[in-house]
Amino acid sequence: PKLVTAATIGLLSLGLAACGSGGGEGGGHKTVFKLAVSQTEEHPQYQAGIELGKRLEEVTDGRYSVQVFGNETLGTSTEVIQNVSDGTVAFMWCGGANVESLNEDFVVYNLPFVFDSMEAQLAVLNDEELNHELFTSLEESKSITVLSGVHAGQRSMYNSKRPIRTPADLQGLKIRVQQSDSQVRMLEMLGGVPSPMSFGEVYSALQTGVLDGAENNEPSFDSMKHDEVAKYYSYTRHLMIPDFLLMSTTVLDDMNEADRQALLDLIPEISAKASADFVPYVEESIENAEELGVQFNDDVDTEAFKELVAPMVDEYMSANALRTDMYTAIKQANEENPAA
Ligand code: GCU
Repeated sequence: PKLVTAATIGLLSLGLAACGSGGGEGGGHKTVFKLAVSQTEEHPQYQAGIELGKRLEEVTDGRYSVQVFGNETLGTSTEVIQNVSDGTVAFMWCGGANVESLNEDFVVYNLPFVFDSMEAQLAVLNDEELNHELFTSLEESKSITVLSGVHAGQRSMYNSKRPIRTPADLQGLKIRVQQSDSQVRMLEMLGGVPSPMSFGEVYSALQTGVLDGAENNEPSFDSMKHDEVAKYYSYTRHLMIPDFLLMSTTVLDDMNEADRQALLDLIPEISAKASADFVPYVEESIENAEELGVQFNDDVDTEAFKELVAPMVDEYMSANALRTDMYTAIKQANEENPAA
């Protein structure tokens, strides 16, 4: 992918990016990039990070490798975004909603009931030309390059009180959402009480009853142990938000051209693996949750939920030309890749 823009070439020629150990512990000739992921070691994104390290070491004759840090050990997403921006962390897997705080146009990926299938979502995410402006939009202001976006499941509602079937069931429930305007607004329109907080804080908030519930994909529900506390998982399937692989633009520019290209060439394969491996991970997570006594219900009036947020989707999607273009592409991808 042609991700290095005129702006970053400008930086290079000024020599601003030519110092430092490349976001990792530079030992001898080897640079170890840090990759941060908020998920556990079993998560496909953690595993894809390990794979990226192996492959990168091969293709750069050992000049570069990757150390993966899971479980938010390097900090919350908001904190790590800052580290990627200042170049002390080379890579992170970042939830789409968090990227919205850097450029609100990322909202096109974060709106409810917009993607009909995983295939449609991936068709849009993998369209390099379509995403070029968005994916390079943070380079100048934040020194962050978006390398790719991957499938990260469908998000549904879960809580400790009752199954959700209609919007009335959600009324008054205090639900954690991701920290972005679109997510807060979505939950308000669906009738719940939104409580934005970072991923790692949700478990104890559920446990202490500060929250009645949250909304997430099955793997996060299970791996973060939310299923120990919230026993009702209701298939609202209201969101399909991707995760993005972010890289420090400074660190990327700091590599010699051949190594940088070798790294960029690995990204499609690594990203495809993260997306594909998510599917069986969902099944395992459902089994684990069921063993803990979780009640999954699929008898949800999704049309009713969809109607409530339709005005909001239209408003966000029509805010500027980039968004209307992306929305057109999304609708076309849905037509070509309908729900199973
Ligand atoms: C999912 C998603 C993460 C996101 C998390 C959250 O796990 O993959 O990127 O951070 O949800 O709800 O915060």
